[in-house]
Amino acid sequence: MSSIREKLLAWYDAHGRALAWRVGPTQVAAGLRADPYRVWLSEVMLQQTTIPHATPYFLKFTARWPRVGDLAAEEDGEVMAAWAGLGYYARARNLLACARAVAKDHGGVFPDTEEGLRSLPGLGPYTAAAVGAIAFDLPTNVVDGNVERVMSRLFAVEAPMPGSKPELKALAANLVTDHRPGDWAQALMDLGATVCKPKSPTCDACPLAAHCKAKALGAPETYPRKTPKAARPHRYGVAYVATSGEMIGLVRRPPKGLLGGMLALPTTDWRDRPFSEAEAEALAPMAADWRSMGEVEHVFTHFSLTLKVLKAEGRGGDLIWSPRRDLDGLPSVFLKAAKAALNALI
Ligand code: ADE
Repeated sequence: MSSIREKLLAWYDAHGRALAWRVGPTQVAAGLRADPYRVWLSEVMLQQTTIPHATPYFLKFTARWPRVGDLAAEEDGEVMAAWAGLGYYARARNLLACARAVAKDHGGVFPDTEEGLRSLPGLGPYTAAAVGAIAFDLPTNVVDGNVERVMSRLFAVEAPMPGSKPELKALAANLVTDHRPGDWAQALMDLGATVCKPKSPTCDACPLAAHCKAKALGAPETYPRKTPKAARPHRYGVAYVATSGEMIGLVRRPPKGLLGGMLALPTTDWRDRPFSEAEAEALAPMAADWRSMGEVEHVFTHFSLTLKVLKAEGRGGDLIWSPRRDLDGLPSVFLKAAKAALNALI
C-alpha cells in the first residue's frame, strides 16, 4: 500500500495537471491551500462538463465574483445567464443557495469539516469529500468514476458495476492517509483522466503498472466489469395496411405510452407470443379480404418486435384516411410495415 501511495504521489508531483483552480503540490508543500470557494465552484462545474469546457466559465465566475459573498449577493438572473452553456439550471440554483448559506449562516467562510460541508445545500457526499480534501487537506475518501475505474483495475475487481461501488469505495478508503490527502485525491483523479482511461489506458505511462492486477491479467480495459445488459424481450403484433385507392387507413395512438399521440398503422396489442392467421384476421380494424404480406422486424430501446403485416383494399372501420405520401411522417416501424405491404411503392 505505501509503495502505491509513494509512487502515485511522486507521479503527481511530476505529471499532475495545472488547472485553473488547483494549487499545485509544490505550493501545497510550502503551506498554501486552495480557496474552498474556488474548489467548490470548480467541482460543481465539473459535475456538469469537462475540464476544457468548464475552465473559461470558472475564470469568468471568479473574475466577476471573486469571493463566495460576491456570488451570494448577486441577482439570480445574472448568475443564471452566466451559467448558460453549462447545462442544468437546477445546479446554478443550488450553487446560489449554497453560496447564500455560506454567506448568511457561516459568515462567508466555508465549514472546514466534511460534515459541515455536507450540511450545505446541494453538497452531496462526493463534493463534500472533494472540497474537504482539496481545500482543507482532510483525509476524506474522494471517489468519482475515475477513481472507481482505477480501483477496479488495480485490484482486478470481478464484481460488476454498479453493485461493486461499495467495494471500490472501500478499496479507495484503504489508500487514504493523513499524509497529503488533498494531493492524493487529485493524483487519483489525474491518473484516471490521463493514464487509466476508460477505453485505451496507457499502462506504459502508469506509475502503478507494477501493482496493477488487471494489467497482470492482460486486459485492463475490460475493468470495471459491468452487469450484462438484460436481454431485450421480444414481442409480436399484427399491423394492418388498409388501402382505398391512393388513401391509407391510419389511427392516432393513445397519448400515453410508446409512440404516444403519433399517427400510426392500426395494429393489435404487442404481446409475447405470435398471432395466428385466424387471430390476425379476427382482430382487423375493418371487414375486408386481408392478405398476408409477410413480417417486419423492429428494435426499440426496451424490446424488439415482429410485426405480421396484412393488407386489404376497402374502406370502413374507424380509420383516418390519409394520402400515401403522409406515410413518410410515420414512426419508422410503421413505415417499414407499410413498405412491406405496398412493395416499397410509397
Ligand atoms: N474532476 C473533478 N474534480 C477534479 C479535480 N479537482 N481535479 C481534476 N479532475 C477533476
